[in-house]
Amino acid sequence: MPDEHASQLRVTVFGAGYVGAVSAVVLAALGHDVTCVESAPARLAEWQNGSDPLREPGLDTLRAGSHVRFVREAEDLGSADVILVAVGTPMESDGKPDLTQVTTVANEVAQRAREGAIVLMRSTVPVGTCDSLQRGPLRRQHVVSNPEFLREGHAVRDSLCPDRIVAGGPVEARRTIERLYQRIIEGDVPTSAARRRVPLLWMSARSAELAKYAANGFLATKLSFVNEIANLAEAVHADAGAVLESMSYDPRIGAQFLKPGLGWGGSCFPKDTRALHDIANGSGYEFLVLRAAIEQNERQLERFAAAITSSVTSGGRVALLGLAFKAGTADTRHSPAVALATRLNDAGLKTVAYDPAVRVLSEEPRVAIRDSALDACIGADAIAIATEWPEFGSLDLSALRRVTAGDLLFDGRSMVAARDALRAGFRYRGLAGSGD
Ligand code: UGA
Repeated sequence: MPDEHASQLRVTVFGAGYVGAVSAVVLAALGHDVTCVESAPARLAEWQNGSDPLREPGLDTLRAGSHVRFVREAEDLGSADVILVAVGTPMESDGKPDLTQVTTVANEVAQRAREGAIVLMRSTVPVGTCDSLQRGPLRRQHVVSNPEFLREGHAVRDSLCPDRIVAGGPVEARRTIERLYQRIIEGDVPTSAARRRVPLLWMSARSAELAKYAANGFLATKLSFVNEIANLAEAVHADAGAVLESMSYDPRIGAQFLKPGLGWGGSCFPKDTRALHDIANGSGYEFLVLRAAIEQNERQLERFAAAITSSVTSGGRVALLGLAFKAGTADTRHSPAVALATRLNDAGLKTVAYDPAVRVLSEEPRVAIRDSALDACIGADAIAIATEWPEFGSLDLSALRRVTAGDLLFDGRSMVAARDALRAGFRYRGLAGSGD
């Protein structure tokens, strides 16, 4: 396979978290020689033992057919052609991303990587970060911003068949980036999805950094708007589902990201919207729409929580259906469902939860977790649906009503038809807390 070898690159990935591990496995599956460096002993041990802490659909199979070395120290950093930085940039209390891990990796790369190596910044970093690394510690390397757009639960598909590849930095790096992603660009990837060419959008590092925030900021804003329409529909006795469906047929609006809820969460939207707002502020620009979207999201949760706490007397019990920040994942980071549990606990209510994927909640608040929706509902004064798991759309409502003490059903994800809830003997409350 002389051709494949000619395009093979030696890649060192820093970080075996979501983005790093998926990128490492995907690049190895495309024929590159990949080492993935992870400093957290527990996470490293899991990857080294062959287990998959992410449980991403398709990742196991892809990994079985390729080889990634998961290591503690980047012994062969000096021979890497490409160094992919995918370490965490968690949100600090002031809303700014904490770049400590990025700086630590940059310093190690500066000391040990070869001159001319390509440093791909895949961690989400503020605009200008790549430029300052390029001017500073990484002046001997080429620093390229290469944001990712993968969704949890679809990470493999999104990596192999992305809508676009965005990269930006010194022009000298472009050919290597094209080699790195050649098979993805040509649609020559191990997937059952239809093969198609993927555009590589080359730009400045600053533009690529902003492109990532712009995409997440726009999607979050779209959801805040959708949530406002759903609330308004309730207030004027219109059918939110029908309204949103009518919008979905307009290709300029698109059919995705139109599901209303009690707010958007996860490890990306809350962090990235705050960071984008901060970037705008720092440059003297007032980003009005984004600020409103963030505020609306906070209010969306407050309204929903207030509707419950004002209907269930203190000491009462709420069955919380869902803990994950979205369906298809066990991730509870910045989960609206968990934030709701906190509000309920603060109001003196007892929360008993069920989530198809979450068995324990390591962080606060302390909530009892049951093995089924039915178990969680036993003796509950109210039910609150907080995550859009498909199984919550086909609950046996009559069976639930037989075990609940009260008859209130708060539907924070528009999963249940109001008439079905009424037929089963529930009083139905939608997103804005109003109902029958
Ligand atoms: C998001 C983006 O969708 C990815 O493109 C991006 O790469 C990723 O962040 C990232 O920056 O790493 P993810 O956090 O996995 O992906 O979650 P989404 O599927 O986007 O959902 C985010 C939130 O929006 C969830 O709380 C979900 O419940 C909510 N949502 C989504 C809705 O309320 N309604 C919808 O119609 C869609």
